[in-house]
Amino acid sequence: MKEFALKGDIVFTSSMEEFSVHSSAYLVVEHGTVAGIYDVLPEKYKDLVVYDKGNALILPGFVDLHTHAPQFNQIGCGMDDELLSWLSEYTFPEERRFEDPDYARELYGAFVDTLAVCGTTRSVLFATIHKHGCELLVELLKNKGLSAYVGKVNMDTNAPDFLTEDTEQSLRDTEALIEHWKGGALVKPIITPRFAPTSTRRLLKGLGDIALKYRLPVQSHLSENRGEIAWIAELFPEHDAYYKVYEHYHLFGDTPTLMAHCVHLTDEEIAHLAKVDVMPVHCPDSNLNLTSGLMPARRMLNQGVRIGLGSDVGAGHAIFMPQVIVRAIQVSKMYAMQHPKDKALTLPEAFYMATKGGGQFFGKVGSFEPGYAADMLVIKTPSYKDRLSVVERLQYFIYHGDTSDISERYVAGKRIDSCEAYL
Ligand code: GUN
Ligand code: FE
Repeated sequence: MKEFALKGDIVFTSSMEEFSVHSSAYLVVEHGTVAGIYDVLPEKYKDLVVYDKGNALILPGFVDLHTHAPQFNQIGCGMDDELLSWLSEYTFPEERRFEDPDYARELYGAFVDTLAVCGTTRSVLFATIHKHGCELLVELLKNKGLSAYVGKVNMDTNAPDFLTEDTEQSLRDTEALIEHWKGGALVKPIITPRFAPTSTRRLLKGLGDIALKYRLPVQSHLSENRGEIAWIAELFPEHDAYYKVYEHYHLFGDTPTLMAHCVHLTDEEIAHLAKVDVMPVHCPDSNLNLTSGLMPARRMLNQGVRIGLGSDVGAGHAIFMPQVIVRAIQVSKMYAMQHPKDKALTLPEAFYMATKGGGQFFGKVGSFEPGYAADMLVIKTPSYKDRLSVVERLQYFIYHGDTSDISERYVAGKRIDSCEAYL
């Protein structure tokens, strides 16, 4: 792959504490990864192609660790409901439509284009139960050049007939897709029981066995809503905590694991998450829209938990990760007002969660330290902002920017072209 450098105002977070800023510097890319950042290019790079972006910001691509591709067309619908009625009245009927390959192609196409437009270079996705739709989503992501984990959703109980799978068929379809996708470099499979309430014990066991057999990561939902947690106690009385249902079936930390939401966890549960290194994915818009609760991010960080951020579209209404970053900070401020010991998140902390923090799930992703994937965004800020510092222009972009400020996107050193906005 060709070597080149981008020149501009480079900003990233190698740690949560602060931004690393390199003004008017060169970001050198070799073989799709970051070779180094230089104020002056060393002699060995004297023939390197340099793309000079002036004072544009050069940021890592955003990482969305939890979103539902098939819910793209229901953004904003049913937001006066809470989780369980919202699922049955809006989400399940919408996901049913993905039986139809034409609908799946149209909607997934729009969704994938929007991810690219938003600068979400890496994402972890729920699809639906439908095998063919999953295949289409993977094909579209690959064609676009984006990186993702794609989960065929499994659900075999407590759902309408049209979304209730035969357990053995569900496991067979999952394994067939894995066999088909497992060699992928940028797009890979992830085991995806929707959540414990829509899973029989047999399904959970089968999925845990597949995760272990192929050493695949796992994603699901955990402790989002109080009604959901009460339902778990009825459905799985043999376990005295929600997470133990997953853990019993090797779906909680035996392989890398993401659990969306984690709003209502006890301190003991949080300590356990830290111990087994399961990553909660904080989806602040979704938690507000469905009146689920405020995720205690600071309490989790204090206990050593690694947190990622997710848009959770369609329960969340914004795919553009800067908005999710802002909402995570705002939610933590609301939480801090009620719990003064738990300080609000800072911008570097939330930015880290949406770049290097979430990027860890993909390997060396989300930072510009040497050896990291060259996932880069070029951001133009208005010329009247030129008197501001680099960090102030970044703050402006995160709080007030939109997709039209992103002029270029790269995944593993390769430019993503033809970004058409559907926003
Ligand atoms: N829990 C189970 N399924 C879903 C879903 O589609 N969205 C959200 N927010 N929570 C869920
Ligand atoms: Fe979700």
